[in-house]
Amino acid sequence: MTRPYIFCHMQTSLDGKIIGNYMETPEGRAGSDWFYELAFGTNAHYKHQGWLSGRTTTDDNFTHYKKPNLPKNPPQVPDGDFIVPTRHTKYYISIDPSGKLGWETNTLTYRDTEAHVVEVLTDRASNAYKAFLREKQISYVLAGKSSLDAGLALEKLRDLFNLQLVMLGGGGVLNWSFIEQGLCDEVSVVISPAADGAAESPSLFETKAGLSGDAPVAFELQGAETNSSGAVWLRYLVKK
Ligand SMILES: NC(=O)c1ccc[n+]([C@@H]2O[C@H](COP(=O)([O-])OP(=O)(O)OC[C@H]3O[C@@H](n4cnc5c(N)ncnc54)[C@H](OP(=O)(O)O)[C@@H]3O)[C@@H](O)[C@H]2O)c1
Repeated sequence: MTRPYIFCHMQTSLDGKIIGNYMETPEGRAGSDWFYELAFGTNAHYKHQGWLSGRTTTDDNFTHYKKPNLPKNPPQVPDGDFIVPTRHTKYYISIDPSGKLGWETNTLTYRDTEAHVVEVLTDRASNAYKAFLREKQISYVLAGKSSLDAGLALEKLRDLFNLQLVMLGGGGVLNWSFIEQGLCDEVSVVISPAADGAAESPSLFETKAGLSGDAPVAFELQGAETNSSGAVWLRYLVKK
């Protein structure tokens, strides 16, 4: 299969949580800064062309659970994918199988990184939602009928956008579903020496009923580094 090389890059607490109050500590902030430098900084270790996020991560960080402003009497959109030419060199790819996200523009800014938005939909997304994305000039690709065909989505990112190195950027549900399907090559984690113990916060990897199961996966250590904040950066290959 021709797909991009996929590395999962995440920041966690000492107990493997990917969100929570620990992020507000000096140690948590230093971990976030290192996480950003490694994948988005001027001398980034990973020079990727785009990053993938789950629908919940996009809602938490960018679309804030707004309902999409769907057109009242949308035209029937043409079949297939919708690709918008862009001057941006980075893509933000959102896994949104049924078309829920209330985008307002076709770009986003994460710290000092600007990216063009690409939606990955299944056939569950409505004609009105696709018309809404077209109005906003947001690119979308279709991958799967009622459930996501993640392999096809990645092939399309390679073939239609020429993406060769893509970051799998969370949350835990998205990460695990890709790892479980053998669609992730490498895992990179910045662990901050901080925790908050919140039981409900998602972890680095999360199963979700209907999307993934708990078959074990093993990893092969590639590197371990520390920095002055006490954070640890671990890199692993995913054992196939
Ligand atoms: N620390 C970090 O580095 C980091 C990075 C990213 C995110 N986060 C945090 O992680 C939290 C969210 O994580 P999460 O695990 O709850 O959610 P998530 O992975 O962001 O999103 C899960 C949702 O994405 C869609 N999805 C993901 N994989 C899919 C698949 N294989 N097939 C079909 N649909 C799929 C589904 O959307 P539908 O529900 O619409 O079907 C699913 O419910 C947020 O608070 C975010 O801020 C932290």
